[in-house]
Amino acid sequence: MEKRNLAPMIYKMVFKAPEIAAKARAGQFAILRIDDGGERIPLTIADVNSFSESITMVFQITGLTTEKLSVLEAGEYIKDAVGPLGKPSRVENFGTVACVGGGVGIAAVYPIAKALEKADNQVISLLGARSEGHLIFREELQRISSEFYAATEDGSFGSKGFITDPLKELLGKRKIDRIVTVGPGIMMKAVAEVSRPFGIPTVASLNPIMVDGTGMCGACRVTVGQEIKFACVDGPEFDAHEVKWDEFLTRLNAFKEEERLAMDAYHKEKCVNC
Ligand code: NAD
Ligand code: FES
Repeated sequence: MEKRNLAPMIYKMVFKAPEIAAKARAGQFAILRIDDGGERIPLTIADVNSFSESITMVFQITGLTTEKLSVLEAGEYIKDAVGPLGKPSRVENFGTVACVGGGVGIAAVYPIAKALEKADNQVISLLGARSEGHLIFREELQRISSEFYAATEDGSFGSKGFITDPLKELLGKRKIDRIVTVGPGIMMKAVAEVSRPFGIPTVASLNPIMVDGTGMCGACRVTVGQEIKFACVDGPEFDAHEVKWDEFLTRLNAFKEEERLAMDAYHKEKCVNC
């Protein structure tokens, strides 16, 4: 396992995982478990190196498990990883594709953009983050994009504000054939609202709470159009114009209080032992 701190609270880890590396395709994810009895967390596979048989995962510390993961050092092991899971991203020659990534979700849009570029699409990258230091995978995405836009909330790089502003401007002046978006739910919802009047097919990669990752537990349930879907087996990509975003956002926050209590207990225990 290799480790790098990419931005405040955001880490990149490279795991040797030959079976997953041999099969993973853009848009798929793996479920990791750090220790016995630990929580199972889904993380998008940001890159694959078939030579070293490794997969790259990028995560932000958002709770107890990601904090425990962040303190592991190169050379250490996690308990297990299951994957690749989910349907791969639809990759074909669409024409011009806008890839909109937000925050740590930028790492998840990267493999999709790379695969689309390889399939001879013209890729336009639009990245949004809090500040320049949070704009991860910037050089990697610039390398494969014919056009590149960035927005930071503090104005330290690119335009000041949300990435949906440059997106709206772009859609007003250029023919875009498809939009792929990965990032905070609230951003993907906003991207869907911006693209809807233009009638541009828009897909969002959803990150609901998951448990088994095999369609059995129902934790990752999302409503898309009139249908109930399970993001782990039917997704994670869905038509962003059909996702019931408000329900999705509510379910995403369902265990915030439990998460806070688990973090408090962990920090208290660490303090007693220190
Ligand atoms: P963040 O809150 O810092 O937001 C990143 C950017 O998203 C903002 O700078 C802005 O450009 C855009 N944005 C945010 N709110 C917006 C709004 N209301 N309207 C328009 N644009 C908006 O992001 P973060 O803290 O890095 O969080 C990233 C999120 O991405 C997490 O919630 C994580 O769960 C999610 N994520 C999703 C996937 C996936 O597969 N879908 C993968 C990794 C991470
Ligand atoms: Fe259990 Fe998807 S995670 S059904």
